[in-house]
Amino acid sequence: MEKRELLYEGKAKRIYATDNNEVVWVEFKDSATAFNGEKKSEIEGKGALNNQITSLLFAKLKEENIPSHFIEKISEREQLVKKVEIIPLEVVIRNTAAGSFSKRLGVEEGTSLKKPLVEFYYKDDSLGDPLLTEDHIEELEIASREEIAILKEKGLEVNRVLSVFFEELGIKLIDFKLEFGKTSDGAILLADEISPDNCRFWDAKTNEKMDKDVFRRDLGNLTDAYKKILAKLEGIQHV
Ligand code: C5P
Repeated sequence: MEKRELLYEGKAKRIYATDNNEVVWVEFKDSATAFNGEKKSEIEGKGALNNQITSLLFAKLKEENIPSHFIEKISEREQLVKKVEIIPLEVVIRNTAAGSFSKRLGVEEGTSLKKPLVEFYYKDDSLGDPLLTEDHIEELEIASREEIAILKEKGLEVNRVLSVFFEELGIKLIDFKLEFGKTSDGAILLADEISPDNCRFWDAKTNEKMDKDVFRRDLGNLTDAYKKILAKLEGIQHV
């Protein structure tokens, strides 16, 4: 596979075209950002860690019959994925109260939720990624009712698999954000990444945070936290 022109550069990744029109080349960057880009830093090794963790988790989901855009990891910080058109929604699944949910609704962080909750945010930096209702999504023609139902169902399915998987590793999956894309034939496919950048992982015994909150809240060394997640994953699986 040949790497061609840069198609898109986001906060954490660069996406390149390839000689295959159906495949794009993803490079994970070392940049860390939070609060809609207000807090920024370069953290050596973060890109490689996220590439490895994301690759392992997409491979795990595939084993459980949950397809994604992931094709293969090709180097420390690069992977090949199926080309999709990203739906501009952040699909957040929550098992335990934390972050913006706790802040907005006054629920103490760490409170178990009665059932997994699904939220949608509009992927739009200029608007600050606002929370959306299903009516908003339809009104703005971001997705149809049927597509919203598919996104919810797929999100909850990923949550079922990953919650059990992480529980077995002694990690609580508190919440996470997914993105989906549409393939050339219009099918909705899980995309983006699943890493400590977009998940909250707490140690099941000590509640130690092993995710981007370490950076957001200045809780210590980010790569040490991500390395702990990777070490637990590698204990049982290799891509
Ligand atoms: O900040 P909030 O509590 O809404 O985040 C919920 C989950 O979604 C967290 O796991 C966080 O890492 C993730 N998230 C993300 N990208 C955003 C907002 C949230 O990955 N822009």
